[in-house]
Amino acid sequence: MEDFEILFVDDEREILSVVENFLSPQGYRLTVVDNGLKALELIKERDFDIVFTDLKMPEFSGLELLTAIKEYRPETEVIIVTGFGTIESAIKAMKFGSYDYLQKPIKLDHLKILIDKVIEEKKLQKENIFLKRRLKERYKYDELIGISPKMQEIYGIVDRISLSSPTVLIQGESGTGKELVARVIHKNSDRKDKPFIPVNCGAIVEGIPEAELFSHVIGLFKSAQGGTIFLDEIAEITPSLQVKLLQAFQEKEISPEDYTRESDIDVRVIAATNRDVEEAVKSGDLRKDLFYRLDVFSIKLPPLRDRKEDICLLMNHFLNKFSTRAKRKVVGVSPEAMDFLLNYHWPGNVRQLEEVIESVFALGMDETIKATDLPSEIIKFGETSKTY
Ligand SMILES: Nc1ncnc2c1ncn2[C@@H]1O[C@H](COP(=O)(O)OP(=O)(O)OP(=O)(O)O)[C@@H](O)[C@H]1O
Ligand SMILES: [Mg+2]
Repeated sequence: MEDFEILFVDDEREILSVVENFLSPQGYRLTVVDNGLKALELIKERDFDIVFTDLKMPEFSGLELLTAIKEYRPETEVIIVTGFGTIESAIKAMKFGSYDYLQKPIKLDHLKILIDKVIEEKKLQKENIFLKRRLKERYKYDELIGISPKMQEIYGIVDRISLSSPTVLIQGESGTGKELVARVIHKNSDRKDKPFIPVNCGAIVEGIPEAELFSHVIGLFKSAQGGTIFLDEIAEITPSLQVKLLQAFQEKEISPEDYTRESDIDVRVIAATNRDVEEAVKSGDLRKDLFYRLDVFSIKLPPLRDRKEDICLLMNHFLNKFSTRAKRKVVGVSPEAMDFLLNYHWPGNVRQLEEVIESVFALGMDETIKATDLPSEIIKFGETSKTY
C-alpha cells in the first residue's frame, strides 16, 4: 500500500480534508489538490497510480484532466467523482477511459473499496499474473492517437501486417490519417531503415512521355528498394499509368512460370484513396485487375465524426504540439468550446482539427481556448444542430 500513490482533485477544500482525514491515518499515500491545472502539473512531474478527480471544476474540468492523464500517463487509473445529476457525464467519461466513477456525497467505505480494488489489480499487473487485459486498450500506437474501438481495431491490424509485407489498400475520407497509417506501418516493419517513398498517382504522368512512363514507374519502385512505396490518390490514376503499374507489379512478383529469375525489386506497396474504390472500379476509372492487386489487405479509416471519443485526445496532442512550437503555455479548452468541438461534424477530419488548433494559436488566444476563438463555421454548425 505504501508503494501506491493516490491523487485526489476537487475544488472543494472541505471534501479534500474529509478524504485526507480518512485515508492518511490508514497508511495510504495521498496527495490532494484543489485545482485541475495544479493537478496536471503534478501528474507531469510524478507518477500516480490512482487519480480521483471532480468532474466540475472551474478552469480545467475533470474530463480534460482525464484526457491529459491518458496522454501523459496511460497506466494511471482515473476515477471520476461526480455529484448527483451529472452521472451521465461520468458515464461519458468512461468512454474516455476512466476506470470508474464515484458518486457524491462520497461514501468513505465505497472510496476505500475502489482504491483497494485498483491497488490489487495494479499489484497483480506488477507481478505479471494479471494478463494486463485493461492495459490492452491503447491510447496511441506510435504516432497514431485514439482510444475509440475503431482505432483499437486499426492498431491491431497495423500490428499484424507490419511484419509481413502484404500490399495494403487504405481507404478513408480526406484527413483521416491514411498517409500517417502508411508511415506507421513502414516504421514498424523490418523495412524501417529503408526508404518510404510517397507518390501522388494523380500527378506523376504530367510531363512524362508515354514511352518513358514504364521506366519512370520502375525507377520509382527502385528508389524505394527494400522499403515501402506509398501510392497515394490511387483512384486518380490515368488508364495508361494503370497498365504500367500492373507491369511494375509483375516485375516485382515473379510469375510462377518465371521462377528461375529473381526479381530485383523488393518493395512493399501501400496504396491509398479517399474515393469509394468499388465505385471507381464500377465506373471504369480503376481497372479491376489493378484493384485486386492492391486490395490484398484493406484498411478503412473511420471519419472523425464516427469516433468522437478521440477528439479530446487528439486535441490535447495538437495543443501540446503547437504550444511547444509557439513556446506558449496552453491551459485548456473551456467547456463551452469543448461542446462545440465535440458536436461538429469535421468534414476535413483530423487534419481539420489540427488546422483549427493551429489557427487558434496563430490568433493568439489566451491561456484557455474559448468558443469565441473557434472558426465561425464550427459555431454556426453547433447553433443549428445538436446531434451528438
Ligand atoms: N490518428 C491520428 N493521430 C494523430 N494524428 C493524426 C491521426 N490521423 C491523422 N493525423 C494527422 O492529421 C493530418 C492528416 O493526416 P494524413 O495526411 O495522414 O491524412 P490523409 O488521410 O492522407 O488525407 P488526404 O486524403 O487529404 O491526403 C496529419 O498531420 C496527421 O499527422
Ligand atoms: Mg494523404
